[in-house]
Amino acid sequence: MWKGRFTGERSDLLKQFGESISFDWRLYKHDIRGSLAYAAALERAGILTPEECAAIQGGLREIEAEVERGDFVFHTDLEDIHMNVEAELTRRIGRPGAKLHTGRSRNDQIAVDLRLYLRDAIAAVRDRIRALQRALVGFAGRHEDLVMPGYTHLQRAQPVYFAHHLLAYVEMLDRDMGRLGDTARRMNVLPLGSGAIAGSTIPIDREFLARELGFDGVTQNSMDAVSDRDFACELLAALAICGMHLSRLSEDVILWASAEFGFIELSDQHTTGSSLMPQKKNPDVAELTRGKTGRLYGNLIALLTVLKGLPMTYNRDLQEDKEPLFDSLDTIDLTLALYAEMLDAARMDPARTAAAVSDPLLLATDLADHLVRKGVPFRDAHGIVGKLVGESARSGVPLNELPAAMYREASEFFDEDVEKLFDIPTALAARKAPGAPSSVNVRSRLEHWRSLLA
Ligand code: ARG
Repeated sequence: MWKGRFTGERSDLLKQFGESISFDWRLYKHDIRGSLAYAAALERAGILTPEECAAIQGGLREIEAEVERGDFVFHTDLEDIHMNVEAELTRRIGRPGAKLHTGRSRNDQIAVDLRLYLRDAIAAVRDRIRALQRALVGFAGRHEDLVMPGYTHLQRAQPVYFAHHLLAYVEMLDRDMGRLGDTARRMNVLPLGSGAIAGSTIPIDREFLARELGFDGVTQNSMDAVSDRDFACELLAALAICGMHLSRLSEDVILWASAEFGFIELSDQHTTGSSLMPQKKNPDVAELTRGKTGRLYGNLIALLTVLKGLPMTYNRDLQEDKEPLFDSLDTIDLTLALYAEMLDAARMDPARTAAAVSDPLLLATDLADHLVRKGVPFRDAHGIVGKLVGESARSGVPLNELPAAMYREASEFFDEDVEKLFDIPTALAARKAPGAPSSVNVRSRLEHWRSLLA
């Protein structure tokens, strides 16, 4: 493509070092889409005759079909997807093919290809997130009345509905949806027509190109346009955060699947055995999800590091943007799909959660609240109940079974109703503020998500 200036062949090692076709072939559809529109813009600019434009577009479509069939041979010698497509086009249709790159550089070409590709990729990830949200809501709905201990510091804290716990992840995933949506919106401006750095003397109608390619507008600075990869960083950051959410969910699942908790039963299809220990049933999906979060973070840091020292404008370093992007997209895609499948096939063990939640200490705060309602300052109430908890711990008598006399001695406001304070459904029903886990609230959030995700 640049043989005019050079006499010798490139070193074989440089060819190996500099090629990107082994991974950027994935951009073929979007590269061709950009070129189809660009040919039309060249025709409008009077550079191509209608016949030449038609020949180019016909050739590009043939190439696309061939790649789709798996018949297209990519050449490492031709470095990247742009040159592979262009060289084959010119081989097929001759002279008109050699006009396609007029006023265009691979610098603005890769910038537009990437935006087109990522726009579709983001839409696909968003569909996957919705599907996982549906799986979470479905799982919650199958155990709507299940109550379990909620934890802080991984210590039993207060009772919650299992559905409330799962819906916390639905909220997290919804913020991921928002971040991905923001990224897609901000990214959706056309860089094509920026040339290598300073636009072109050829009058390319960029507004026309933007309309053809479904962009909301055109970039306003050619130097920024060819070197900007903010959108790639934003996407990698959004995927890293989404991975962090999935990793936290995984940690819960792994704990719940342990014999110590025994809250969840994962299906045989979504667990693995041990080559040594016959009894093992391992939650590999959750463990690998937690592990793969490392590469999602790594890919973000890799790209940020590539970008931090770049002088204006395009530098070849930018070619290093693709593998982190593809890797994070592939990782999140498979993880989200598999997670939804695993949750659809999982079930909770109500006997185990009921045993755990019967711990009366989970309602110690409610005892204090009872005193507060009678006018006792909260700090005093906290101390009074703390003493009773201490008695229970020392004597081994469960908090709810301490003698009534001991309660009355602790506070005159512990009347004959103490028993009632240990009723979990009553305790949950009293948590009525928006966001708190009363059954009414949890049911209404389930309804909200069901209709939103329908
Ligand atoms: N393969 C290159 C990339 O991914 C395309 C742009 C190359 N531009 C250049 N002037 N060498 O960034």
